[in-house]
Amino acid sequence: MDYLQIVGGNKLRGKVTISGAKNAALPLIAATIIAKDSVQITNLPNVRDIKTLLKLLDNLGARYEHAKSAATIDTSTITSTKATYDIVRTMRASILVLGPLLARFGHCEVSLPGGCAIGQRPIDLHLRALEQMGADISIKGGYVHAKAPQGLRGATIIFDKITVTGTENILMAAALAKGKTTIINAAKEPEVVQLCQILQNSGVDIEGIGSDEITIFGSEGELLPMETISVIPDRIEAGTYLCAGAITNSTITIDKVIPAHIESILVKLQQMGFGLEIGDSNITISPARRIEPIEIVTSEYPGFPTDMQAQFMALALLANGTSIIEERLFENRFMHVAELRRFGANIQLKGNIATVIGPTELYGADVMATDLRASSALVLAALAAQGTSNVHRIYHLDRGYENLESKLNALGAQVTRLQEH
Ligand code: EPZ
Repeated sequence: MDYLQIVGGNKLRGKVTISGAKNAALPLIAATIIAKDSVQITNLPNVRDIKTLLKLLDNLGARYEHAKSAATIDTSTITSTKATYDIVRTMRASILVLGPLLARFGHCEVSLPGGCAIGQRPIDLHLRALEQMGADISIKGGYVHAKAPQGLRGATIIFDKITVTGTENILMAAALAKGKTTIINAAKEPEVVQLCQILQNSGVDIEGIGSDEITIFGSEGELLPMETISVIPDRIEAGTYLCAGAITNSTITIDKVIPAHIESILVKLQQMGFGLEIGDSNITISPARRIEPIEIVTSEYPGFPTDMQAQFMALALLANGTSIIEERLFENRFMHVAELRRFGANIQLKGNIATVIGPTELYGADVMATDLRASSALVLAALAAQGTSNVHRIYHLDRGYENLESKLNALGAQVTRLQEH
């Protein structure tokens, strides 16, 4: 197993290029299941979750070629509609194949994803919505068994909670259904918007893209002619590198980003006192004269993303005063708190609210990554700490950050990947 050894205290400088968004690429790869011909996807991040989903498609019988940041996927050869436990258990987002498989083949079996380090993460909303579209769903032997022999039909879906992959699953199912589907309380994340746009470019009539009410007019089972897709930039990777600049008191530029996608992150950085120069597709961050404490409440897009909560907690350790961070989306997304304390952090936890008392002198430590974004918070703290840190269990990081250590080292950090004995 690999770990990262980080010598803290180095200033960063220069420019880092942001990769394609993992969470946009995953539903786009799943959407190739409802494509008529093979589809090329470019600007794919070279991260493990992408390889996992491609492997899942391969297991179903699809063919793909994958090199660096592009893949060509041909799903016309699919022979199986069973997404098996061994893959789904390693990546919850595998559930994204449920809607498209059911819509195209009229039946499928997908292993239940189960809980994970950040919470229980049920899929009841996905299942209820598909039932409303005429699917017969049962859970047996740890698998979701879904059937719709006559095909799915349009319905009005009201999500009780905003769900990103739930919205994506229903969008893909509705694209092939008979008639009109309206999703009320839909997710508005840029990743959802890109999926809508791709479906629209493939001939599906969609209204309300980017709003919380989306209407889809289905193709009645006709597979979609999809053109080459270029994945949007990763807004969470962008935010994480901005935090890397901020926490090391450095001036760095992030390139190939869509600034509008990270407005809530930029506002918080500005409130903390950091300088920001915002171009069309790049942003330069410069040090704060005095780092101010912040208040953060995570919420759905366009609110402050839960996927940036841990990184801002690391940054808040350096603020001059008390910051309050409230996690509203996941019930257990504070696993990094105990690890941040190893660097010397003074954080009090009460339910879903963390009180971070700064400023803190951070000292290098051995820490354990618990989930993807928690891991990046530990890397950030290590960059700012005096001395050497070892971040263990970095397989979490490899799921979602492309070339993390080489990107950081090119900015002047001292990060080495080593193997546990
Ligand atoms: C997506 O997960 C992202 N994953 C997550 O990114 C992200 O943290 C999350 O959205 C929130 O922004 C992908 O896009 C692949 P949800 P998702 O359904 O879709 C509850 C990362 O680090 N809920 O929007 O699984 C759920 O428990 C990851 O890259 C139900 O109760 O999240 C949560 O409390 C981690 N029933 C809330 O809704 C359901 O059927 C929002 O979850 C579905 C969700």
